[in-house]
Amino acid sequence: MSNPNELAHVLGLRCTICGAEYDLGEVEYVCPQHGNSGNLDVVYDYDLLRGNISPAQLAARRDPSIARYASLLPITSQASLAPLPVGGTPLYRADRLGHALGMTRLYVKDDGRNPTASLKDRASAVGVARARELGHTLITGASTGNAAASLAGQTAAAGMDAIIFVPESAPPAKIAQLLVYGAKVVTVAGNYDAAYDLCLQATNTFGWYNRNTGYNPFLSEGKKTALYEICEQYSDLSVNGRPVSLSPADGDHASTHWQAPDWVVVPVGDGCIIGSVGKGVRDLLALHWIDQPPHILGVQANGSSAIYNAWKAGTETIQPVTAQTVADSISVDRPRDPIKALRSVRDTGGAMVQVSDDMILSALGRLGREGAIFAEPAAAATLAGLEAALQQGIIGTNESVVLLITGNGLKDVAAARRAGGQPYRLEPTLQALKALVQRERW
Ligand SMILES: Cc1ncc(COP(=O)(O)O)c(C=O)c1O
Ligand SMILES: [Zn+2]
Repeated sequence: MSNPNELAHVLGLRCTICGAEYDLGEVEYVCPQHGNSGNLDVVYDYDLLRGNISPAQLAARRDPSIARYASLLPITSQASLAPLPVGGTPLYRADRLGHALGMTRLYVKDDGRNPTASLKDRASAVGVARARELGHTLITGASTGNAAASLAGQTAAAGMDAIIFVPESAPPAKIAQLLVYGAKVVTVAGNYDAAYDLCLQATNTFGWYNRNTGYNPFLSEGKKTALYEICEQYSDLSVNGRPVSLSPADGDHASTHWQAPDWVVVPVGDGCIIGSVGKGVRDLLALHWIDQPPHILGVQANGSSAIYNAWKAGTETIQPVTAQTVADSISVDRPRDPIKALRSVRDTGGAMVQVSDDMILSALGRLGREGAIFAEPAAAATLAGLEAALQQGIIGTNESVVLLITGNGLKDVAAARRAGGQPYRLEPTLQALKALVQRERW
């Protein structure tokens, strides 16, 4: 295997705070001058990449998983990815839902269809690939649940060990999922922030490879593939409303260019996903594969809105909150990746909104009824955020919008039951059924 710290297409790692640059292997996680908040960004040689790979070459690839983008990832080869395909999730029009909102171009990117049912699979795939290349056999992570499940799935596929810290309040389905994948699970008597801090201490004490969001810069690189897919698939679906083929045989615009939608709507907790979507945008602009960036709309729950508050105040300084929201995946006191998040919004001419738990639960139901999508609350927050943005005039009904559905509804059945209401209970007789049909006017 070639040296994972000598990748021709990767120039190094850059601190988001001070701009200091490091070679791969010189540091692994954060800027030493800024401690745990010194998030690093992987820097690429875009001139080299432009010569190595093109939209036309990608269009000819049959593998729909993120392996198709391996040459745009900080790994030596796609062989380092564990044999559990990630990504390649569908992007499709949600016309019934869109029309109900007065929109003609509403799309969903259903990342709940990843192997462990959340977008986090993208991050874990690249984190595990990096760990494998460095020769690690054990990976640790802290998570509100989805990152953990994705790590456990990937380590199961790769035959590695995972030790995972979760808050004891994590939804039972999420904890069950990672136990089934064979991870060692530690439920921490505290919140996500407490689990996160303990996990960092474990990394420093035992040398376990760390897969934490907002700490390990390789994870964002996996998540950015969601944006690549959105643009690649969106180009296929419509250019100015007309279907366009990506087939190289067409020899047209689509073989050299992708098209971005006007807006991509992203739920925000730590800020890692939205930062990664922004990284994907930067990559595609630097590669000249898209001409215009999509605007990024970040959505936070109003009970967990530290990044929204900073955006509103026009600062990159974060004031932690005491988070309280039904959307457990975006319930975060102190976001771990706020700078990349805020810059993603700013640099794409985007915006942020905050939404209440009632709005999230109502959006969860609406997504199911009108969009046929079963989303967990954090993912449903995208629709609540879109509704707020339409109301506030941030997004126009004539614009094209992609909701990034980050996690499947089966992850949190208790919340789904709150949104979906109760079934009818009946004695098993036709007489009782007739009475019900009459009463409910079915
Ligand atoms: C389903 C889902 N949506 C959104 C998020 C928020 O991502 P981030 O914490 O990177 O902002 C998470 C993170 O756990 C998630 O699992
Ligand atoms: Zn720094």
